[in-house]
Amino acid sequence: MEYVKLDIHGAIARVTIDRQGKLNALNATVLDELESCFLDLQENSAVRAVIVTGAGEKSFVAGADISQFPSLTPEEAQAFSVRGQTVFSLIESSSKPVIAAVNGFALGGGCELALACHLRYASDNAVFGQPEVKLGVIAGYGGTQRLPRLIGTGRALDLLLSGRMVKAKEAHQMGLVNDVFTLAELLTKVEEIVKVILAQGSQAQAFTLNVVYKGAGKSLAEGLKDEATAFRNVFETEDRVEGALAFLERRSPKFKNR
Ligand code: COA
Repeated sequence: MEYVKLDIHGAIARVTIDRQGKLNALNATVLDELESCFLDLQENSAVRAVIVTGAGEKSFVAGADISQFPSLTPEEAQAFSVRGQTVFSLIESSSKPVIAAVNGFALGGGCELALACHLRYASDNAVFGQPEVKLGVIAGYGGTQRLPRLIGTGRALDLLLSGRMVKAKEAHQMGLVNDVFTLAELLTKVEEIVKVILAQGSQAQAFTLNVVYKGAGKSLAEGLKDEATAFRNVFETEDRVEGALAFLERRSPKFKNR
């Protein structure tokens, strides 16, 4: 692949967007490569968690590639938006936890990529924003929908209407990121967090992700119904027997992930 690098170490896959000359901006090739990468990872049973990051020390992803904007017709613009949404929804629908390690600019489509991941950790030099209004356009890769769901409508509209950029500390205060580390320790810290996730039952995690995201578009009553069904289904796994026995026998569980 030209712009997306995939490294797999044990159960952890690292996806690195590497188009440094353009601050890792997302062009059509980057989106195609991300899609193919996540389709492969979903099929790879050895991989149980995915970290998404940007190459270099300056940028996670500085947005969709603006150089394409001037020539887009309205119809092409809609297709452009749907394409990014499709790839990011694929990432969000992963049954394996996907964690963004945001190592610099996460603007526009970069912020939206982080929003499509299940967890977000940032380096202290990271900068977040949805600056599309500065270009006279709107967020089109999910920002108008995922940002309010994550941080609330008022905070989301602050960013979406002003286009202002926020540093990692403020992004953390807003609930946009789970935690902030120095750039030097970002990936190590994220891997430590991922190892804690890997020690738990992966079947249970997959059910959790599914119910949480499905619930976002539903009434509380419908979401609770889905939760009870998932709670039932998780009782068909071997891991739930091991989890309970390990607790009762005062030992660490040895999950088989089935
Ligand atoms: N699309 C296309 N190219 C981009 C890009 C984007 N979203 N973001 C950065 N680049 C390119 C620049 O055009 C420049 O390319 P060049 O060297 O060939 O001219 C290169 O990346 C470096 O960017 P530059 O602007 O020189 O770096 P900077 O440190 O001065 O500024 C930013 C960094 C992130 C503040 C600035 O690049 C920026 O505002 N980018 C656009 C962010 C944005 O609006 N994203 C939402 C898009 S919808």
